[in-house]
Amino acid sequence: MPVGKWLDVGTVDQIEPGTARTLPVEGREELAVFRTMRGEVFTIVNKCPHKQGPLSQGIVHGNVVACPLHNWNISLETGRALGDDDGCVPTIPTKVEGGRIFLLREAVLNPQVADAADEAPKAAA
Ligand code: FES
Repeated sequence: MPVGKWLDVGTVDQIEPGTARTLPVEGREELAVFRTMRGEVFTIVNKCPHKQGPLSQGIVHGNVVACPLHNWNISLETGRALGDDDGCVPTIPTKVEGGRIFLLREAVLNPQVADAADEAPKAAA
């Protein structure tokens, strides 16, 4: 887990398994906090990388959400579009402790896109 300040955004019980809650962030993109059927919690920017569909309203299956607009499958772990689709939505490191959800503060203010780390080694090769 990254080191830094964590923001308490409420209890895990407030999110039904297999659904998401939106979290407005002043001056930033709205976030979507997902709870999977297995009880894992993930946070991503609430905007599909295709045409900005509200991912919080999608159907969760495993650690993936299907966008409600055109059904792209987005990994909740990496934010990446799966299959033949191409795109990535920023993710926010998230942890659950004592039944409460915590988001990494720096990432809330500057959401992380997973692409950068993956592409750096190719450029160096
Ligand atoms: S906007 Fe999400 S699949 Fe098109």
